Amino acid sequence: MFDIRRKIAGILCDVVDLSVDDIYSMLEVPPDPKMGDLALPCFKLSKILKKSPVIIASELVEKTPKSEYFEKMQAVSGYLNIFLNRKFFIREVLNEVLDRKELYGSSDIGKGKNIVIDYSAPNIAKPFHIGHLRSTVIGNSLYKIFEFMGYNCIGVNHLGDWGTQFGKLIVAYKKWGDRETVEKEKISELMRLYVKFHEEAEKDPSLEDEARAWFTKMEKGDNEALELWRWFRELSLAEFSKVYDMLGVTFDSFAGESFYEDKMQAVIKDLESKGLLEESQGAMIVNLEKYDMPPCLILKKDGSTLYATRDITAAIYRKNTYNFDKCIYVTASAQCLHFKQWFKVTGLMGYEWAKDLVHVPFGLVSIEGEKLATRKGNVVLLEDLLNKAVSKTLEIMEEKNPDLPDKERIAKEVGIGAVVFNDLSNNRIKDISFSWSEALNFDGETGPYVQYTHARTCSVLHKACCEIIGSFDESLISNDDEYQLVKTLSLFPEKVKLAMEEYEPSIISRYLIDLAQDFNRFYHNQSILVDDKSLRNARLALVQAVKYTLSAGLKLIGLSAPERV
Ligand code: ARG
Repeated sequence: MFDIRRKIAGILCDVVDLSVDDIYSMLEVPPDPKMGDLALPCFKLSKILKKSPVIIASELVEKTPKSEYFEKMQAVSGYLNIFLNRKFFIREVLNEVLDRKELYGSSDIGKGKNIVIDYSAPNIAKPFHIGHLRSTVIGNSLYKIFEFMGYNCIGVNHLGDWGTQFGKLIVAYKKWGDRETVEKEKISELMRLYVKFHEEAEKDPSLEDEARAWFTKMEKGDNEALELWRWFRELSLAEFSKVYDMLGVTFDSFAGESFYEDKMQAVIKDLESKGLLEESQGAMIVNLEKYDMPPCLILKKDGSTLYATRDITAAIYRKNTYNFDKCIYVTASAQCLHFKQWFKVTGLMGYEWAKDLVHVPFGLVSIEGEKLATRKGNVVLLEDLLNKAVSKTLEIMEEKNPDLPDKERIAKEVGIGAVVFNDLSNNRIKDISFSWSEALNFDGETGPYVQYTHARTCSVLHKACCEIIGSFDESLISNDDEYQLVKTLSLFPEKVKLAMEEYEPSIISRYLIDLAQDFNRFYHNQSILVDDKSLRNARLALVQAVKYTLSAGLKLIGLSAPERV
């Protein structure tokens, strides 16, 4: 991979006698391109070299040998400003992108390593709401990013298909439900029953005991209980699949919480034999006082297992099955403590791989300012949201581009893309709000904007009649708009790597916005299809490179890259 920063660091490190990596990490991009393409803030060196930044900068200008990588260096108030050799840089970057096409930015650093990604994981018999959307799209994007970096990924949907809520549902179904309505209304009827249970249980707390008793029956293998549970599970899964199909998200395993039912006893024994289990008010816990955390609950008073019991068991199973390098969990930040607790327990059990368990939390989602809740029933169903996004996009497209063939399919790609992009456009830990007008704004910092820009590159290339670009003369790519575009293109590989290291798909979405904006500036300021063949060829090479990179980036965040919008 061509990395000009590393090349420059390689030259400078000999002059100051430091490692390439040290210099590499110190190099910055100056705020104003007039100050150069890269800068070394020399105050970072002054402690090590025991000289003032001003002196270091001017010594570097004097002593650095000439090279094809840069044109000149300037010392300005303790900074070493570096101006690249544009011609060389442009040639290297464009050749690499055109050579690697949509694989530009990919690598094989993960070769031979397995990564388990646990994402989406909605709860059976509860609706799949927009809160689960974040887990789904962040997890899906991380899957694609790790795969792009050569890892073997295993996507697991740890369905919430076990637990006391099924006892509640069984009670509610037996009291207030009937088979026909459930068959017909599916999750919304299950949801109604679930909500009804909570309303009634407020008046009559004995219902909670009944629910617990039913869950215990499930855990003991009672036929009636298990049959109902299986039915609820299938109905829910069929509904979830509709959403996954719309999003284009797949999983390698659907081993949910119930999968671990027959595997937990061994783990409980293991905890016991390691002296970690303690009784507390009838329940069995692992005391985590020493680590400043509340106890991790393993068994309830009535002997039933808990969310954490299943998570510990699942982690052990996954290590044995997949021998993971890392196991990543994508959930709302409300679950931070839960993960900290059971990660600790796993470590205390002596599993050295506990350090490879990673929690990737994210903030809350609100829609047009409204928070979401499951118990009360005022949730926005994800399927409805996605359908609405598609129909609104179709309306916009009818206006913008009424003759577009295959409008429905494209409206689906753009509408759903808009929702997904909105979810990935900020640091994941931030709370986000969803607003229709913002998410679907074709000129804003949105998915449709990036997709639209990609379609624009396709249309330019199409108009050029698929002219074979072949070799191009990089010296013709010389104005500032073009140079800026090449600089942005050159950043893609490091952005992908950073997104992977920080488990942060938003690094890629923000990058795509920058690239799209730089492209559109170039597009508006320069004519591409000029008469001069060589110039036209050089500009087309640039357009082609932008197309590959936008398309690759869109796919990494789980969006499609339609050729026409
Ligand atoms: N079902 C859970 C929820 O909706 C998320 C499960 C996440 N994965 C896990 N292994 N705990 O909150």
